[in-house]
Amino acid sequence: MHEIREPEFQPSQRAQQAAGQPIAALMDQALSRPDLISLAAGFVDQVSLPVEPTRTAVDALMSDQSSALAALQYGPSNGDRQLRAMLIERLEQTDFGGQPRMISPDQMLITPGSNQLLYLIGDTILDPGDIVLCAAPTYFVFLSILKNLGARAIGIDSDGEGMIPDALLEVLRELQKSGDIKRVKAIYLTPYFDNPRGVTMPLHRREAIITIAKEWSRERPLYVLADNAYRELRYDCEDIPSLLALDDNQQTVVEIGTFSKSFSPGLRVGWGILPPALLQPVQSQKGNLDFGSPYFSQRIMAKILELQLYDRHIATIRECYQTKRNAMCAALEDAFQDVSEIRWQRPHGGLYIWIELPEYLAAGPDGRLLETTLDEGTFYVPGEYCFPSEGTSPRKNTLRLSFGVQPPEQLHQGVIALRRALDKCM
Ligand SMILES: Cc1ncc(COP(=O)(O)O)c(C=O)c1O
Repeated sequence: MHEIREPEFQPSQRAQQAAGQPIAALMDQALSRPDLISLAAGFVDQVSLPVEPTRTAVDALMSDQSSALAALQYGPSNGDRQLRAMLIERLEQTDFGGQPRMISPDQMLITPGSNQLLYLIGDTILDPGDIVLCAAPTYFVFLSILKNLGARAIGIDSDGEGMIPDALLEVLRELQKSGDIKRVKAIYLTPYFDNPRGVTMPLHRREAIITIAKEWSRERPLYVLADNAYRELRYDCEDIPSLLALDDNQQTVVEIGTFSKSFSPGLRVGWGILPPALLQPVQSQKGNLDFGSPYFSQRIMAKILELQLYDRHIATIRECYQTKRNAMCAALEDAFQDVSEIRWQRPHGGLYIWIELPEYLAAGPDGRLLETTLDEGTFYVPGEYCFPSEGTSPRKNTLRLSFGVQPPEQLHQGVIALRRALDKCM
């Protein structure tokens, strides 16, 4: 008898490019060791999730028959109109001095979280081999998206104020010399309390980057993708106008927002304001995916804004995260006061603290430190995951800590465990 062999499945090129994401490995670690104090995940605080405001909004939505029926139906493919109008109104308040400007709700697209929008934009503007210039280090899930799309990510040097405009210019000039400039399609930034470094880009740098993007947009558009995921998590500094507010003709900046960090990631509601040329093509791509994001979640968020429950919740979580930020900074000061070679910067918002170890210490998956830290009962995101494969070389002696999830006492214990691991490796 012949043995019948099943034909082997060969994933598509794209699916192969999606494999091996660092995020998946980290999640596996966390799930297989529930005893660990994770300082790795960029998740939000569990206890302060907005149960009451959400219940109030759902009750209000469901108590009226026609609004209940509408919320359970398909919605417009570009998102709920009321929600878009209210988001634009907020933006006019924060960025345009309350002056109604020429941003129409029709320029906005609602997505199930901002990650889908990042993917859709990449899928729309990038062919395989095209280039995105990213601050190095950067949000590592976005790097996986670029890899999935077959695009190149080039890291631009950054410092305590984010991407350095002169470094950006230098790379653009090099790419012009090498002939690759026509492949450069976008600059990706997380201008507020960034992931992974927790740094915010000041106004003068925002202006400089917009000016550069516009100067280099003469032959083909060079878009600036401004990912504002952490804008609302601001603890002890003033707000800064968005990059969109600096884009005088709104042809350059893609403004990306989300309720995941400021309200609830479970609702999965994000949004983007797109330059006119991108809007229709991105919407068409989205149509192929889902003909619109979950409408029920959008109606809940619209109700939450309408009932003015959102700002109240933001005030609560700012207090909660500020306490955690303070606890982690105090723990770091305590644990590392005698080690001058360890550097970190106190963030004014967001969820992250970026640690630089002495050059000789590798914090990555191949180094001894990560393994030892796991043995000591905690773990972190290796900084090298956050560096694009080209441009600025990965700093293997770096790591990202998050203070979003753990309560203050656990943050303290986690930092002490990290110190024990460092002592064993230094
Ligand atoms: C910088 C940044 N952008 C985007 C996202 C995606 O968030 P969501 O898809 O939940 O809106 C995250 C999540 O951690 C993030 O850190």
